[in-house]
Amino acid sequence: MGAVILGTGSCLPEKILSNHDLGKIVDTNDEWILSRTGISTRRISGQGEATYQLGAAAARKAMEMAEVTVEEIDLIIVATMSAHMLMPSCACFIQKELGAVNAFAYDVNAACSGFLFALDNGDKFLRVEKGKKILIIGTETLSSRTNWEDRNTCILFGDGAGAVVAEYQDNERGVIASNLLSDGTLWNLLYMHTAPSCNPDLQLADNPGSHILMEGREVFKYAVKAMEGAIRDLLSRENVDMDSIDLMIPHQANIRILRKLVSRLGVKEEKVFINVQKYGNTSAASVPIALDEANREGRFKRGDLLLVCSFGGGFTWGASLLRW
Ligand code: ACO
Repeated sequence: MGAVILGTGSCLPEKILSNHDLGKIVDTNDEWILSRTGISTRRISGQGEATYQLGAAAARKAMEMAEVTVEEIDLIIVATMSAHMLMPSCACFIQKELGAVNAFAYDVNAACSGFLFALDNGDKFLRVEKGKKILIIGTETLSSRTNWEDRNTCILFGDGAGAVVAEYQDNERGVIASNLLSDGTLWNLLYMHTAPSCNPDLQLADNPGSHILMEGREVFKYAVKAMEGAIRDLLSRENVDMDSIDLMIPHQANIRILRKLVSRLGVKEEKVFINVQKYGNTSAASVPIALDEANREGRFKRGDLLLVCSFGGGFTWGASLLRW
């Protein structure tokens, strides 16, 4: 049918930062963070855990599960908004790290929705280039883009990577369809500057450096509405009812966003995979990390219908349906 996922992998940095630890950095506490976000801990990268290194480690695990060698990989798509460098792409660094000599590689930046956008890119590539094998990776080190003096944002994010190996199969399995959307007019509700320009004519007077800036309440409102709309449209287009979904794997932003979304959709909580309490919001990495954990925990089996959804800066958002 479409891109069939042959293997999943993830990699989380070793260092765990708890809410209690955060209380020593900014004026906050465990009770506030837990009740507003559902997050208890997040992982923070250190030496040897750059964005591309986490991504490569996740990819190795996915290839091991898929029993695919690195020489068999034809394409590497990486979703990230915290690449090691602006140029070359994170995907090229991962290609070098893995020794993927037969692949071409590029990045996708759709903020927290990046993995869904990359999955859709990969799915469409495979439907044309049947017989190829690809790596799709979401990897982030948002700790490097967080303003550690801003308690509104620094409590939310974490680092990590997730990856999948996919190929086209002519059967009922794989990505069924995706519904992806964006609205650039809302860019200023959630954004991150680049480094200040070297060309004085292009300098932005208010560029504070590469920090995430956010209007939290607005983001919350849009996130719930947008994901609900994308899911409903996708399911109605594909003639699938909510009860047929075996497991929903949403972007792990915030437990309150997820609870609201799930209750508006009428999905039972036991059908929703949640790990935001452990890793916080890992942006483009959150869906593939969750997919890998759910897979390794045996939360779904061959033939199950999975629904993934996401929302992020841009704004970007969407949903995908997969037959495992
Ligand atoms: N610790 C203690 N108090 C805090 C903290 C903190 N970390 N942060 C804010 N506060 C205070 C505020 O200063 C404010 O105090 P005041 O009433 O004296 O002014 C009070 O808490 C309430 O602040 P609000 O911002 O109104 O709190 P809210 O209930 O909206 O929760 C939050 C904030 C958690 C950011 C919420 O708006 C949210 O989850 N938004 C979604 C953001 C998100 O998920 N972004 C990720 C990227 S997009 C995505 O992935 C979907």
